[in-house]
Amino acid sequence: MTQLPFVTRIDTANHTLEGADNFSETRLKDMRSLYSYRNSNEDDATLETIVYRVSRKDVPTEPGELLQCITEILPGDYHGEFFMTKGHGHKQRECTEIYLGIAGYGLVLMQNENEFRFEELLPGRAIYIPGGWNHRTVNIDPQQYLLFYSIWPANSGYDYEAVIKNPFQYRVFRDTQGYRFEER
Ligand SMILES: [Fe+2]
Repeated sequence: MTQLPFVTRIDTANHTLEGADNFSETRLKDMRSLYSYRNSNEDDATLETIVYRVSRKDVPTEPGELLQCITEILPGDYHGEFFMTKGHGHKQRECTEIYLGIAGYGLVLMQNENEFRFEELLPGRAIYIPGGWNHRTVNIDPQQYLLFYSIWPANSGYDYEAVIKNPFQYRVFRDTQGYRFEER
């Protein structure tokens, strides 16, 4: 027990978690293989486009501790498929997570061994993601960033292979109606 009490704050002006000590940016080139579009000749400027940013408050990765982060997914799409997070499962599969919508309009995709579910992510809406469900968030507002807060056990770990071995059953595309699902 080395962690002392502390405070974080959701900084809605800067789209970050105030007090965070870990920042990351994911660009299209980091996750291109997760999109349906395949073209080896994509131009460099497109590949450098930032898709999402995460600011995370780190604590010891021990049972009982909780990690928190703010994720900002920028508005946009890659050849029609909306900007999204890579998606992951947890190495400790029993570990759960809660997402709380702060700004914008998104979808949380959830996939376990044989079932797909999704929930709308809107300001004030909290989504409980049970253990064993891979999770990905999609920004379905082409005009505005999506901002959400996450909290999960610090010993969860990230399993990015999980979404390759057991992909999300549906992809989310821009549409005249707003968005549409396409089965993979
Ligand atoms: Fe997670």
